[in-house]
Amino acid sequence: MLKDKLGRVIDNLRISVTDRCNLRCLYCMPEEGLDWFPKEQILTFEEIERLVRIFAELGVNKIRLTGGEPLVRKNLHLLIKKLNAIPQIQDIGMTTNGLLFKKYAQQLFDAGLSRVNISLDSLDPKIFFEMTRRDQLNDVIEAIKEAQRIGFSPIKINLVPIKGMNDHEMLEFGHFARDENLDVRFIEFMPIGADDWTLDDVVPTQKIKDVLNQISPLVEVPHDERLPAAEYTFADGKGKVGFISSVTEPFCGSCNRVRITADGRFRTCLFSIEETNFLALLREGKTDDEIAKIIEERVWIKEPGHLINKDAFVKPTRTMSQIGG
Ligand code: GTP
Ligand code: 5AD
Ligand code: SF4
Repeated sequence: MLKDKLGRVIDNLRISVTDRCNLRCLYCMPEEGLDWFPKEQILTFEEIERLVRIFAELGVNKIRLTGGEPLVRKNLHLLIKKLNAIPQIQDIGMTTNGLLFKKYAQQLFDAGLSRVNISLDSLDPKIFFEMTRRDQLNDVIEAIKEAQRIGFSPIKINLVPIKGMNDHEMLEFGHFARDENLDVRFIEFMPIGADDWTLDDVVPTQKIKDVLNQISPLVEVPHDERLPAAEYTFADGKGKVGFISSVTEPFCGSCNRVRITADGRFRTCLFSIEETNFLALLREGKTDDEIAKIIEERVWIKEPGHLINKDAFVKPTRTMSQIGG
């Protein structure tokens, strides 16, 4: 079992497969994009598979593929097939912006992808364009429909409410969750990526709850405490929403996650300042046992948590797209 010195058990690995993205969300990257990692510095599918096998031996059973936008990477279904064949891996999910999802959805599902989280920050085409700098709301809506048609379960919708941008749409998102039978999650805006984050831009979870309570009172449902989202239904039994309150109610004490970036860096926290270069270890010819030992040592000293809102907070130099969320 992979454990840190605070007793947290790590069984959830998030793997970013590319730093590239086909959207330019305001809170994530500049309009002109970023300097992408050179192709030869990206982990190959074989390298990812090898790492996952090592992690699986150590107790990891849940994988989430992230980006950038994971579907910008060609033939992702082939990676999913490889990971799905690892006996200990019980659950493979993906977090996507949905733009390319419809085209690949069936292929991904057949390869063993079961859970999909789709980012959707606005239901208004004008605001969607303002926030993502691309006019493709319709593609995301189509992606959601396709995920429903194929039978992905659960389908979670991620949105980051930002004051003055999309925060007037919270009630609409509540209705959207109910009408479309989707699990809509409200994620507090975190100081990572965008340079101009201020606490003032964050829409606190409590504010959103106050709005959603107008539809029908929210009722908390028991959930796995190790997941970031607190889950709720409405008292009338219709619809499900979640809140990822990293800023106002941090959940680091029950964290079960570690991350590998597309360029093969191991991060034991979303907000890690230090990383371990797995790409180099793999390409230097280290054995599985040697890599496993390094994983155990790094996990043992996993950061207790982030320091958002504290004087000691240091913003990671990587953007969210270079980490994977
Ligand atoms: P499941 O609950 O297994 O579906 O996955 P998830 O909610 O961890 O996945 P997803 O990629 O949809 O995460 C949603 C968002 O939650 C991420 O983009 C981050 O913004 C945030 N998040 C996920 N994991 C962490 C974490 O470990 N720490 C913090 N602070 N935020 C996280
Ligand atoms: N704060 C909170 N969530 C973020 N995401 C990206 N950047 C941020 C941020 N600064 C989330 C998006 C998307 C996922 C990939 O990461 O909502 O769902
Ligand atoms: Fe875990 Fe770090 Fe996220 Fe806290 S900020 S929940 S410790 S990854």
